[in-house]
Amino acid sequence: MKCRCPAVSNDVFDPIRLTRALLVWYRANRREMPWRGHPDPYAVWVSEIMLQQTQVDTVRPFFARFMARFPTIASLAAAPDDALLKPWEGLGYYTRARNLRKAAQVLLDRHAGKLPPTLAELTALPGIGPYTAAAISSICFGVCEPVVDGNVARVFSRFWLLADDFRKPGPRAALADRLRPAITGCGDPGDFNQAIMELGALLCSPRSPACEACPLRPACAAAETGRQCDFPVRPAAAAIPERHAVGFIFRDARNRVLLVRRDSAGLLGGLWELPGGEIPKTHTPAAAARLVREQTGLAPAVLRPAGAISHTFSHFRLRLSLYTATVASGRIAPSLRDRVRWSPLPSDLPLTTAARHALADAGDGRNGVKGSSKSRSAR
Ligand code: ADE
Repeated sequence: MKCRCPAVSNDVFDPIRLTRALLVWYRANRREMPWRGHPDPYAVWVSEIMLQQTQVDTVRPFFARFMARFPTIASLAAAPDDALLKPWEGLGYYTRARNLRKAAQVLLDRHAGKLPPTLAELTALPGIGPYTAAAISSICFGVCEPVVDGNVARVFSRFWLLADDFRKPGPRAALADRLRPAITGCGDPGDFNQAIMELGALLCSPRSPACEACPLRPACAAAETGRQCDFPVRPAAAAIPERHAVGFIFRDARNRVLLVRRDSAGLLGGLWELPGGEIPKTHTPAAAARLVREQTGLAPAVLRPAGAISHTFSHFRLRLSLYTATVASGRIAPSLRDRVRWSPLPSDLPLTTAARHALADAGDGRNGVKGSSKSRSAR
């Protein structure tokens, strides 16, 4: 998308010809992505939301499934909870999917079902912050606004030897200010932004940057001084706490498993998981059984420990002890029927990653436990 700004002389990059070199490099080396060159801003929006905290190659199959299920903003706006979350299952940060749907509803109500072009209108939508607004407006509408994501921060913390913590909004905004003169008048702000993100992903990698191939190399302060791996500066990460939970793999006579829906608000909101919940590390099987009876109305029998799964979230690690069980007595109360359900496998319901791992082998009659697994973080 060509830029809509008046032509200005570009004092920041042109004297060293870096903008031009950057765009030449990008056009020769960019990866094919299904949303690149897509005529519909909706596709760019969905891709940019999925790409938050997630790498391009991970996003590809999720994007394809999501767009096949929800090809238009109107179809997304009307999505029921389980249908919305199923194609997002395993991608993590599920609030992103809920915000997409909320924003789609706002677009239908106030923007004639289309994405607006301006930063102010975009950032007023649920789930769209400065990064996503800059990406959509530059790629789809030619607005000259720099994006600052983790890749961009790495590239320019090295280029200018900036020691700021770019996870904070202040340093991100300051870096955007610093890049604005370069994007303004570059000719194609969408390509400019994507070029830097692509450079960060393909060349300026965290541990082994390929400086010899980099178009910014002639003016990069870190490459000049051999300090690439000192940037970006990251404060030491705090140790994350461990929490404990139990999960029950119940089977009925039809080989279905019992699943429980999490509250819509909060961590993994609306996803389905094994009955159980958080419990002290030193719990007894009887205490675990009580927890499940209170939650579902069903009392378990023939409890058998069935291994454990470790699941790492962004702010804690969950150790999930598994039990296989059958139902001894009780029934699912009518008031719980939208939250407690028997499901065949593979399930149509959107599952938490821990439940998916616990049930991975369960469809063929084994107990489903894979020992231990580590999954990506999710909010
Ligand atoms: N990461 C996030 N958005 C991107 C894009 N449009 N191109 C390349 N990498 C990205």
